[in-house]
Amino acid sequence: MASDNLRERAFVIIKPDGVQRGLVGEIIQRFERKGLRLVGLKMIHITLEQARRQYACHEGKPFYDSLIKFMTSGPSVAMVLEGRDAIALVRKLMGATDPLKSEPGTIRGDHSVDIKHNLVHGADSLESYQHEMPIYFAPDELFDYELALTGWMYYR
Ligand code: RTP
Ligand code: MG
Repeated sequence: MASDNLRERAFVIIKPDGVQRGLVGEIIQRFERKGLRLVGLKMIHITLEQARRQYACHEGKPFYDSLIKFMTSGPSVAMVLEGRDAIALVRKLMGATDPLKSEPGTIRGDHSVDIKHNLVHGADSLESYQHEMPIYFAPDELFDYELALTGWMYYR
């Protein structure tokens, strides 16, 4: 069931392959069109230390080293998006990790054929958000503001 919190925040990274393939605008547009609003946005080149902190949960897995190498291989775009159930919505719009399971209509389902080069990362829970977002954003880099269209998108 949908929550009453219209201000849940989600943390997203457009991975280095998304930048290289010129899909930054396409990916941001999908989140914006759905009704999520940007409250933070920047281009970053993820450092080794940041990648290791972010993906600490995968340390020791067979794909860990190659994932860290990939995530630090070039510039990425980090963002924070706000809206009702933002974390779950972002994950739905991203699609499944496995390219054989990501549905057409999702970002990965429409644009990715590889389990590693899958364009986008989204923190998958509130705990992940709280762990990951501060690795990349300082508090004054996030913005509180009203969207005039909110009343047309949400029934309260
Ligand atoms: P993400 O954390 O990046 O949002 O992706 P996810 O939740 O869909 O997938 P997760 O299991 O957390 O894996 C993190 C990232 O590691 C790479 N990966 N490679 N078998 C493999 O080679 C493999 N498995 C995962 C992907 O880039 C995946 O997004
Ligand atoms: Mg994950």
